[in-house]
Amino acid sequence: MTSQNTMGLTPPLGWNSWNTFTWDINETLIKEVANTFVSDGYKDAGYEYIVIDDCWSLKERDENGQLVPDSEKFPSGIKAFADYVHSKGLKLGIYSCAGTHTCAGYPGSFEHEFEDARQFAEWGIDLLKYDYCFKPRQMSGELLYKRMSLALKNSGRDILFSACNWGEDDVYHWIRESGAHMYRSTGDIQDNWESIKKLTLSQVDKARYTGSYCHNDMDMLVVGMYGGSNDGFIGSKIGGCTDSQYKTHFSLWSMMGSPLMIGCDIREASHMTKDILLNKDLLAINQDVESRGAYRIKPEPQWFHDDDVFIQVKVLSDGDLAIGFFNLSDTQREISLQFWDMGLPYASKCSLELYDCWEHKTIGQFKERYNPVVPKHDCLIVRAKVVS
Ligand code: GLA
Repeated sequence: MTSQNTMGLTPPLGWNSWNTFTWDINETLIKEVANTFVSDGYKDAGYEYIVIDDCWSLKERDENGQLVPDSEKFPSGIKAFADYVHSKGLKLGIYSCAGTHTCAGYPGSFEHEFEDARQFAEWGIDLLKYDYCFKPRQMSGELLYKRMSLALKNSGRDILFSACNWGEDDVYHWIRESGAHMYRSTGDIQDNWESIKKLTLSQVDKARYTGSYCHNDMDMLVVGMYGGSNDGFIGSKIGGCTDSQYKTHFSLWSMMGSPLMIGCDIREASHMTKDILLNKDLLAINQDVESRGAYRIKPEPQWFHDDDVFIQVKVLSDGDLAIGFFNLSDTQREISLQFWDMGLPYASKCSLELYDCWEHKTIGQFKERYNPVVPKHDCLIVRAKVVS
């Protein structure tokens, strides 16, 4: 299509209806979210996609085999809705499934891939999230993602392909070749600390499987939900995290190059939620144009720390290093980083000037090592400049 296509070059940023609203969606709600993107600075910060997840259609296709939007939820139809989202300078995403039905039981795109892709293009859709429920058992999932990718690339419109097979079938080994721009590598996130920690630890050694045009999607953000989902499974009113846990969650997803799809009700976001989601220093790390994965360093002394205390380093395109000191354990820890472990020996005579990406201020210049003390479930993210 376009000759210099930057679609999917860096991790997609947006909002998705599922985490908070699940089945209970409608065009008024989602228009308000789009308006909030503009009025509250999300658009200016780089968030772009408004994604309608499952439950937007009728339960049956029409007599021509086409998907039909639920007119109670979307009375203006999807095309007019897309026009509205585009008029705000934003993009619209929608959801379907590689199987016969979506996870919530609506029609899936199995054996309808090319007609559905054309339909989405006609409506003005800019992103398709493609789920994995009700896949006929004899079918290869790999082939079904290749099919839809090909259908989208030939639909007549640039449509970003967001694959969602939850990390199954060794997805790491074939998804980039399929043409997908991002791919879910984990089961569904829940709005609690255990879930954030579990998803993180499952991906911390997968840095080589993310990069430009095909980003490892660790699932949508739960930042700012505070237990506010209408679905018992995703969070329930008894779920929720502390602000420092949400801050750590956002830092991990940013450092690890995950797409950042907001999942809370941003119309009612707290001051702290906005500070987290609109952190320009973290977004700049996530959106670095080279999209390198973050490597992990075990802090010294190694025998003292479990896997839940670690350092992540992301090499940035301007020569800086983004460094995350993460303490997912249940007690305060000193996390000791030897600069040697990032390629900076004493013999280089260089020091690092460290800038705190949460406090938004310079910490100082350090040689050889830096040993911050990090409270439990918390983190310190610094941007380090090499100075000789
Ligand atoms: C699956 C996906 C979720 C969401 C639901 C919708 O569980 O992983 O992200 O899309 O389906 O039913």
